[in-house]
Amino acid sequence: MEHEGITIWLTGLSGSGKSTIANLLAKRLRAGGAKVEILDGDVIRTNLSKGLGFSKVDRDTNIRRIGFVCRLLSRNGVIVIAAAISPYKSLRDEVRATTTNFVEVFTDCDFDTLVKRDVKGLYKKALAGLIKNFTGVSDPYEAPTSPEVRTDSSRQMPGESVGSVWDYLVGAGLLKL
Ligand code: ADX
Repeated sequence: MEHEGITIWLTGLSGSGKSTIANLLAKRLRAGGAKVEILDGDVIRTNLSKGLGFSKVDRDTNIRRIGFVCRLLSRNGVIVIAAAISPYKSLRDEVRATTTNFVEVFTDCDFDTLVKRDVKGLYKKALAGLIKNFTGVSDPYEAPTSPEVRTDSSRQMPGESVGSVWDYLVGAGLLKL
């Protein structure tokens, strides 16, 4: 399997399936011999972005840092999968403009499903007012208007969502089977 350097940018609310899709997609790509790296917001915030909070300024800094690493990797032939809420369109567009083969994937999910699922228990706390500036509850999320791919974890199984990203990559000629 041959491939270009690619920045696969997963954006969506907490719990919408970004990490699940990132991990499953990476597994499929690696099985085909691809060079893949994952930059997951939760992980990045424990090292590269350690100490940053969730104000707009801090989120913007976080996204710029992740975008910078995406630039270095994607221009060197790596498939880099970023999974961060990245709530602001202007920041995502900035990363789009500075990375190689940027593919925006909107991991959508019905809000009631997110609240019911609440894997990390954060929605319950945010809705009770215990977490301030929580994305989707008390902080903005600017949904992509024309992402390359849109998935929906309230209607699809992870394998199906990964399949639609895969199909896009093949169709766009970024992945050659
Ligand atoms: S981003 O806005 O800067 O892109 P990022 O994806 O790195 O966010 O981190 C989001 C994760 O941080 C969430 O999945 C959640 O576990 C945690 N988190 C803690 N506080 C908040 C908050 N106020 N808003 C959103 N996520 C939060």
